Amino acid sequence: MRRYLILCFVMLIPGMFQAGNIPDSNLISIVPRPVTMKPAAGKFVITRFTPILVKGHGEEVTRIARFFADRIRFAGGPLLEVREITKADKNLPAVVFAVQDEHSSLPDEGYELKINPKQVLLIAKTGAGLFHGVQTLFQLLPSEISRHNLPMSFKEWELPALRITDYPRYPYRGMHLDVSRHFFPKEFIKRYIDLIAMYKMNTFHWHLTDDNGWRIEIKKYPKLMQIGAWHVDHEELPWKERPSQQPGEKVNYGGYYSQDEIREIVQYAADRYVTIIPEIEMPAHSVEVLAAYPQFSCTGGPFTVATGSYWPNIDILCAGNDSVFTFMEDVLTEVMALFPSKYIHVGGDEADKTNWKKCPKCQERIKTEGLKDEKELQSYFIRRIEKFIASKNRRMIGWDEILEGGLAPEATVMSWRGVEGGIAAARQGHDAIMTPGAYCYFDHYQADPASEPKAIGGFTTLKKVYSFEPAPGELTSTEANHILGAQGNVWTEYIPTPSQAEYMAVPRMIALSEVLWSPKNARNWHDFQHRMTGQYIRLKKMQVNYSTGSFKAEVSTKFDKKTNAVMVTLGSEQMDVPIRYTLDGNDIKSSSPEYAGPFEIKKNGVIKAGLFVDGQLKEKITEMPFLYHLAIGKPVKYLKEFSDRYPGAGNTALTDGLRGSIDHHDGLWQGFLGNDLDLIIDLGREMPVNSVQANFLQNQRSWIFLPVVVEYSLSSDGKKYHSFNEVSNNIPPKEEQVFIQPFNFQFMANSKARYIRVKAKNLGKCPSWHEGAGEPCWMFTDEIVVF
Ligand code: ACM
Ligand code: ZN
Repeated sequence: MRRYLILCFVMLIPGMFQAGNIPDSNLISIVPRPVTMKPAAGKFVITRFTPILVKGHGEEVTRIARFFADRIRFAGGPLLEVREITKADKNLPAVVFAVQDEHSSLPDEGYELKINPKQVLLIAKTGAGLFHGVQTLFQLLPSEISRHNLPMSFKEWELPALRITDYPRYPYRGMHLDVSRHFFPKEFIKRYIDLIAMYKMNTFHWHLTDDNGWRIEIKKYPKLMQIGAWHVDHEELPWKERPSQQPGEKVNYGGYYSQDEIREIVQYAADRYVTIIPEIEMPAHSVEVLAAYPQFSCTGGPFTVATGSYWPNIDILCAGNDSVFTFMEDVLTEVMALFPSKYIHVGGDEADKTNWKKCPKCQERIKTEGLKDEKELQSYFIRRIEKFIASKNRRMIGWDEILEGGLAPEATVMSWRGVEGGIAAARQGHDAIMTPGAYCYFDHYQADPASEPKAIGGFTTLKKVYSFEPAPGELTSTEANHILGAQGNVWTEYIPTPSQAEYMAVPRMIALSEVLWSPKNARNWHDFQHRMTGQYIRLKKMQVNYSTGSFKAEVSTKFDKKTNAVMVTLGSEQMDVPIRYTLDGNDIKSSSPEYAGPFEIKKNGVIKAGLFVDGQLKEKITEMPFLYHLAIGKPVKYLKEFSDRYPGAGNTALTDGLRGSIDHHDGLWQGFLGNDLDLIIDLGREMPVNSVQANFLQNQRSWIFLPVVVEYSLSSDGKKYHSFNEVSNNIPPKEEQVFIQPFNFQFMANSKARYIRVKAKNLGKCPSWHEGAGEPCWMFTDEIVVF
C-alpha cells in the first residue's frame, strides 16, 4: 500500500524535479535529503513584522506554528505573531502553515514547501507532515537557528527561494536507547527525542528494563522501584569484570522514571511527532525483576540486580508459573496506560533455557500444553502475552528470537541478528523492522578502537550505516512491503554518560535517517558528506557531542609486480579534505607531506596519517605499523578457503604488510569458520629464510579462538616439503582477554626456500562451557611475516 501511494504521487506532480539536482551551495544542506527540490532566484526575509498564518486543523497547526516561532525567538530572533489566515492576508508577506486533508496527493508524513520573495507556504496533509516541513525550514535558516537561550534581537532571518516536495520512504524510522545498563536523566531523553525529530525520524524505542535495572514506576509492584531499580556502583570496573552484589553492600547506582515523568516525556515526544515504544523485557534479561520478586523465577533465588554482565544469565522468568503472567499483565496494563503507542515491545531475546529444562513447573507446562521443547515454551510465553496485548487493541513487537518455536499470530519482528529474522517474518506475512548489528548497532566502534572510547566491540562506520539497504533483494515486492523500516540501537553497557550516548548516536543516526527517508536512488555518499558539513556546524551550535570518527585516514597497500614495490594508498570517508602523513614515526604536522597519490615504501616503519580540516589536524590520527618482509606482495595459494564473512583484503590479506588491530572488524583480519588454515606462499625464487610468524586473534566472547597448533614447512620445488615445525598453543580457550598472539618459528641457520606452507589447526567447535557450545568457531589471522 505504501509503495502504491508513492508511485501515484510521483505521477501526479508534473514537471517535478527529480533527486540529484541539489545545488552545490553552502546554504542548502538538508538531511535527510528531500525527494525533490527546485531552487529558485531570490529569498524570503523574516522580519519582526512577519506573521505566521495558520490554516486548517485548528489548534494543531497553531501549536506547530508556535513551535516554529519559539525557536526563532530563542535563537535570538523576534517573537513572531501567530494567527489564523484571513482573506485580507492575501498579499501579505507571511509564513503560511496549512494542513489540508484534501491535499491527498501527499503521503501522510509528506509536505510541500514553497518559498518565494513574497511568501513561505508550507502545506501538509497531517500535523506530522507539517512538523517535518518545519524541520526543513530550520535547516534552511542560517545555522544561528540552532542556538538557544539568546536575548531578543531584531535581526532578519533569510530563507532561500525554492520548492520542495518531500515524503518518507519508510513509515518506521526509529532510534533505540537502553536506559537499564546506565540510567539517563529525563532531560537527556528529551534531547535525544529532539535529535530524532530534527532528522525526521518518528519512533523512539525505549529499552526500559533489563538485568541492570528496572526504570519505570509500576504502582502495583513497589519493589521494582525499591529493589529492581538499583545495583552496586561498580563504575570503576570494566563492565565484564564487575563482581555481583555482596551481602551488606550499598546499592546506590540506578534510578527510574516516575509515571509523571513518563507522561511528560510521552507528551514531549508526541508534540514532536515521535512515538515512544516502551520495551518491557521477558522472559529473559529480567534478573532485576527476580531480585525484587524471586517467586517469579524457576529456582526461588535469592537474586541481585546485575552490576555488569554475566553471560549467559540463566535466571529468567518461570514460564510454568501463572503468577508470572498475572504480574506481566499488571505491569503491561500500567505501561499501556502511560504509552499510547500502537506497538508494545516485549523483548524476547537471548533467553537461556537452562532453568526451564530443570524446572518442574516449566516441564509441567510443556506437558499440559503439548509443547515439543523449551523453544516452544518460549513461543507459548510470548503468544500468551501477545493475546493480552491484542485484547487491549495494541500490537506486540519482539526481537527476532520470537520466531523460534513459532511466531505469535500478529507479532512484528525486530531483526537484530542480521536481516534473516526480518526476511523470515516477511515471508510469513508478518511485519518486520530491520536493526541488524552490522549496520544498526551504534554501540559498536565507529572508528579505530585505538583512538575511541571503549565500546562493546564491532566496527560500524558512518559510511557503513549509510550503505544499509533495509529491503533485502531476495524478498518479493509484496514481502518487502512488510519491512516497515529500520532502527539504530544504542545499548549502554559501555556508555556511562548522556554525552557519550550522544557521541555514539551522532552522526550515525543521521546517516540512518537518510537511508529511511530519502528515495533509494538518491543516496549518494559524497553528496551526503557535503551536506553533513552544514549539519556539523548546526550540531556544534547545539552543543551536541557528535563523533568525528569518519574524519580518519584509511590505509591500504598494494604490491606492484612491475616495480617490485609496495604502494600505499591513503583515503578517508571525507571529500576534499587533505591528508598528511609521516613514515618515520614522527608526529604529523602541517608541514608533513600532503598525500597526493599512491607512494612507495621499502622498509619497516609506521604509517601515520591524519586529516586537516581548516588547517587543523583532526585528533583522530591513523597509526599503522608496516612490516617490510620477504613475503610482501607474494602470491598465496589457499588449500582451504577463508570465510567470505571475514575475507580481510582477500588473497593478498596475509602478505600486504599491514597488521590487524585488536578489533576483528577492522577489515585486516581473515577468518576461518570451523575449518583449518592451509596455504602456500610462493616467494618467487629460492632465498634464505630465517623465520616465519603468523599472528592470530583470541576473542572468545566473539567466538574467536587461537589455533590449537601452527605448522610451518619449507620447499624448493613446491612438491617436497622439509623442516616441518610445530608451534603449539598453551593458552586456554577460556582466556577472557582479547589479544593478538604471534606463533613464531626460527628455522635452522642457512635454511632456504621458495615455498612456505603454513597450516593452523582450528579449535573446530566452541567448547562445552561456551555460549556457542558445539557450533563452529572462528580462527582469525592477519599477516604472515617471513624474514
Ligand atoms: C539484543 O541485542 N539482544 C536485542
Ligand atoms: Zn520454571
